[in-house]
Amino acid sequence: MKRFLVFLVALSVLLMSTGAVFAQRVDVGIVLPTKDEPRWLQDVARFEDVIAQTPYSVEVLFSQGSSAAEKTNVETLIARGAKVIIICAHDAAAAAIAVEMAKAEGITVISYDRLITDTDAVDYYVTFDSISVGEAMGQYLVDNASGQGNPLYLYAGALTDNNSFLFFQGAWNILQPKIADGTFVVKNSSQAEAVKGTKDLSREQLAAIIGEITTDWDMNVAKSKAEAHLTAKSAADKGQVYVLAPNDGTSRSIADVFAADTDVTKYFITGQDAEKASVQYIIDGLQSMTVFKDTRVLAADAMNMAIEILQGKTPQTDAFYNNQAIDVPSKQSPVVVVTEDNVKSVLIESGYYEAGEFTGI
Ligand code: BGC
Repeated sequence: MKRFLVFLVALSVLLMSTGAVFAQRVDVGIVLPTKDEPRWLQDVARFEDVIAQTPYSVEVLFSQGSSAAEKTNVETLIARGAKVIIICAHDAAAAAIAVEMAKAEGITVISYDRLITDTDAVDYYVTFDSISVGEAMGQYLVDNASGQGNPLYLYAGALTDNNSFLFFQGAWNILQPKIADGTFVVKNSSQAEAVKGTKDLSREQLAAIIGEITTDWDMNVAKSKAEAHLTAKSAADKGQVYVLAPNDGTSRSIADVFAADTDVTKYFITGQDAEKASVQYIIDGLQSMTVFKDTRVLAADAMNMAIEILQGKTPQTDAFYNNQAIDVPSKQSPVVVVTEDNVKSVLIESGYYEAGEFTGI
């Protein structure tokens, strides 16, 4: 008896030390790229709101900008019995291995916001209309330009993010005819300049441009690139300038660099995500616009899709996105352009943010 008790104690110590006793089962696993960017913190908050209303168990894990951590997160969720995994990849192609592991276990994989590429192991994609995000940015710059020879500075997202291709192609759809007719002159991308006669760019052409003007979605990279570009240019390449910045974080750091250059008399700069800090920049006239992507809608769409799958139903989709391997059935959400003219109605009166979070509104 005593030996048996000793055995039981030893067994429970062993199980506790491996965490096995506490490992909770989850129905839906969510993997997000990083906690360090406000964009993904917005998504977490929205997921938590939706999760609170579901009877299912849900776990959110962060990959902190590492494909290795992302793979471990997927393994953890597989071990906990997840039936659906919602994943926003850090690196679109590297994530293929992780989702193939999940798929091999019979788990349904939903790509969230960023499409995982080069694999057939993605069942669904829940996203904003990313081409239209880029088009809204391009349209904003075109609407604010007149005459000929306006200096245009182009920046892009990370080469590892499929969205960077969609955002850039979207912007290019609108900007290219205006570059070809001389309204704009590209000042910082020989790759873009080389294809200024072509509207529909190939993946390779896009990769060449993005590789040249990438911010890596990193505010510091964006800042040093903008500084290097402005240092290399003369006063004649400045004056009133137009800047395609791919998201809010990079927009604020690029805007600060342009604002500090005494040869820049005025700048128009784009962004996306409606991050709080950028909303304040817009109110203060330091960032010209942002593209608002309502994360309440995206998180709810993804969770509702997961719940339908758990209930054995086939989720509704409304588009297909090609991921270099298959056409992935997708659910797409629209986006809204925000400038200082409508910031209050779109972001405050809709309850997305509270007026008290900003000054001067
Ligand atoms: C998202 C953007 C975000 C960027 C950087 C993109 O995939 O769609 O909303 O700003 O990643 O995290």
